[in-house]
Formats: sequence, structure tokens, C-alpha cells
Amino acid sequence: MEKLPAIEIQPAKGRLGILTPGMGAVATTFIAGIIAIRKGLGKPIGSLTQMGTIRIGKRTEKKFPLIKEFVPLTNLEDIYFGGWDIFEDDAYQSALKSGVLEKTLLDQIRPELEAIKPWPAVFDKRYVKKLDGTYVKQARTKWDYAQMVMEDIARFKEEHRLDRLVMIWCGSTEVYLKQQDVHENLEAFEKGLKENHPGIAPSMIYAYAAIKMGIPYANGAPNLTVDIPAMYELARETRTPIAGKDFKTGQTLMKTIIAPGLKARLLGLHGWFSTNILGNRDGEVLDDPESFKTKEESKLSVLEYILQPELYPDLYKNFYHKVRINYYPPRGDNKEGWDNIDIFGWLGYSMQIKIDFLCRDSILAAPIVLDLALFLDLAKRADFSGIQEWLSFYFKSPMHLPELYPEHDLFIQLMKLTLRFMRGEEQITHLGADYYDFYK
Ligand SMILES: NC(=O)c1ccc[n+]([C@@H]2O[C@H](COP(=O)([O-])OP(=O)(O)OC[C@H]3O[C@@H](n4cnc5c(N)ncnc54)[C@H](O)[C@@H]3O)[C@@H](O)[C@H]2O)c1
Repeated sequence: MEKLPAIEIQPAKGRLGILTPGMGAVATTFIAGIIAIRKGLGKPIGSLTQMGTIRIGKRTEKKFPLIKEFVPLTNLEDIYFGGWDIFEDDAYQSALKSGVLEKTLLDQIRPELEAIKPWPAVFDKRYVKKLDGTYVKQARTKWDYAQMVMEDIARFKEEHRLDRLVMIWCGSTEVYLKQQDVHENLEAFEKGLKENHPGIAPSMIYAYAAIKMGIPYANGAPNLTVDIPAMYELARETRTPIAGKDFKTGQTLMKTIIAPGLKARLLGLHGWFSTNILGNRDGEVLDDPESFKTKEESKLSVLEYILQPELYPDLYKNFYHKVRINYYPPRGDNKEGWDNIDIFGWLGYSMQIKIDFLCRDSILAAPIVLDLALFLDLAKRADFSGIQEWLSFYFKSPMHLPELYPEHDLFIQLMKLTLRFMRGEEQITHLGADYYDFYK
């Protein structure tokens, strides 16, 4: 295969600010993790940008550079953190309350964490019914709120002399919103901001502010936020990369690992029942049926797309898929996810697979926040804009162009990461035909 010309990428010089609306369990596990890693107190396990390698050329060439050496990424030393929350807790207090990382670790980085104080949030209880915000901005219109977010960002950039910024939504899951007229184009959306249209959720106000300023945005929750034509238009206009939705961490990660394997071996599926118990604030928010609906939509579509029942009716027509999330405070952030998978094989004989995943949600999410921040910054420097489908790897419900269907298979998603393409390196087919005698 021919080498392609490399894409011109601006160097990752200077400082990168990572903005997180929401400074709860995921955001503080991420922030504390980066600070701890910088001090040699831990390793960035789970992060492709930090630990991953990439094969270049033929297997016989034995070239496997680290991804962070292959493409120009920001160093962890050059990262600065800023964010918003509806509670005033600094990153130390919030991390402590989240109960993910041990106090002994947090105490070793306490001054750095205490220095990270959230800015008052844009919040409206109608969109997250289980929370009562006490630390929130006051403005007359949603347009004014957007201006205030932009002012926060500009101040933060100036204070820390930042060169570039990215925003990763780590706030709560909002109530289910359907695309409507106000989302159709930028003009309608901006009018909606000025008229306080109910179709515009707080997450959209942050996203609008970021994208308007040319700051890449990733959506860690299943909220509609940037998955609307108005935001695509703004992203095109300001040449800004956007990505989403909903970090792919625990149960869905397992699903997108196992389902492609079942399909590859043409094993049938009668049903897949998934249930979870979790006790963190995210679990409490998801206890509200309207927030759960947003999450459920995001979790359910995965199997349909991977298994392609229309191509394999004998195997996957009418399989039953159920997902439950139960709020159970004693478990805190340590979620337990059970899967019962009823499969069938040769002549239709049935079998079962049981998975009991005792996972730590935020431990799985933190490296995703880091990778998304660094890859979105890379995308911006490579002048990519609009939906970054190549980042599907990180999402339960990957955003895609309207004419495409989403790619959920984790292994295809890994191949979609466009890093070789960016560097003008040959794409690897894994065919291996040129190693065989018959080919020579
Ligand atoms: N942890 C995971 O594995 C995982 C996986 C996929 C998605 N997510 C999503 O990531 C998000 C964060 O998860 P978490 O476990 O950190 O939850 P969390 O409840 O600990 O943190 C969310 C924070 O957002 C704040 N918040 C809510 N609305 C806000 C607003 N309008 N502006 C600013 N702050 C706001 C809350 O006060 C809270 O501190 C959730 O939406 C969750 O569904 C998490």
C-alpha cells in the first residue's frame, strides 16, 4: 500500500488547559490522577496516549513506537485544570467526598488539589432533578449565561498563560431531550438562547461557549448537547473538533468486547440481561427516571449495531436486551455489574455466560478523559473540525455523520483511530499476504 502524505500538525508547544463542567467523581479522579502521576505516585494505566504503542510498517520491521512519541501530544507537565460545579468544594474536598481515591494518596497532593476551585455553575434543576445547586450563576437569559462561561474561560486562559484549551463534560446526566426545531440550525439556537428556550439544557450552554471560542468539546455523558445540527454548524464555522457521547467504561465496555467475539464465531443470542448497582452521585442522579432514560438509550443501541440482526436473522433476530441501573448507596463508586447472556450454538443448543464485573467507574473513566483531551487537542492542531468519529473508541454512543451508522465494535474502533493516517504511514490490513511464499 502506498504511503499517504502526512497531515500538517502544529506542535504541542506550551500549556493546555483542560476545562471540566462538573467536578465530581470522574473529574477529580482524573485531575488527582494526573497530579499523582507527575509526582511518580502512580502510573497512567488505561490510557492509550500514555502507555499505548502503535505498529508501523511490516511485522518484520519491528517498529512499535509509543503513541505519544508517534504523534505530537501535550506533556502531562503542561496541563492546567479548570472547571465548574454546583457545589463549592475544591478538588481535594470533592475527591474526598467522591470516595474513589484513598485519603493517603489525596493528602500527598493536597495543596495542588486545594488550589483547583470550581467556578459557579450554569445549572437548572429541571434538567437534573435529583440535585440542588447552591453554587450557581445568576443571569437573565441563557445567552447571558453563555457569555459568563466565556468570561470564565478567558480569565482562566489569561491567569495561567495557556496556549490552548479543551472542554470535557464531566457533569451529571441530564433529563432526556429530543432534537427539536431550536436545535436545527445555529440561528434558531442563538435565538433560543436569547429567549430562554426550554430545549436548551445547561450542558448546551457550556458547549456553545466552548465551540464559539474554538475550543474542542467532548461529551462524557449521554446528554444530547453537541449532537445537534446547530452545534455541527458552529463547529464547522469555528473549525472546532467535537466528540461524544457517554464515556464507555464498565458494562458497555465489556459488551463491546464480547459481542464482536460472539458474532465473529457466529454464535446466536437469545437475550442479554444487564443490571448494575452503584452508590455514587451519578447513581443517585440516574435514579430519576428521566435521567435514566437518557442513559438507557445510550446503553441499548450497542448490541443491535454490533450484531447486525438484519444480516444474521437466524442468530440475532428478536434477541431480548434489558439494562437496569439500581442506586445502592453502600457501594459508592464501586459499581457491580452483572450480565446474563443466553447464547446458542450448533443446532440451536443453548448456553449461558455470566459476567460479574466489580468495577470502579471513575478509575475506568479517568484515562478516557485524559486521552480525549489530548487527542482533541491534537485534532485541533491538525485542523480537524466537526464530529471526530475516529474517537468512537471512547464512547458508549459514538457521534457520527447523519448518513452513517455508529461503529460500536471496540476492535474496529481501535483501528479507526487515525494516527497512522495523520503521520502519512501505511495502513495495516493484518492480511500478512506479503509474508507468504505464494505472494512473492
Ligand atoms: N464514571 C463512569 O464510568 C462514567 C461512564 C460514563 C459516563 N459517565 C458520566 O460522567 C458524568 C460524571 O460522572 P461522575 O461519576 O463524576 O458523577 P458525579 O455526580 O460525581 O459528578 C458530576 C458533577 O457534576 C456536577 N454538575 C451537575 N450539573 C452541573 C452543571 N450544570 N454544571 C456544572 N456542574 C454540574 C455535580 O454537582 C457533580 O459534582 C455523569 O454524567 C456520568 O453519567 C460516567
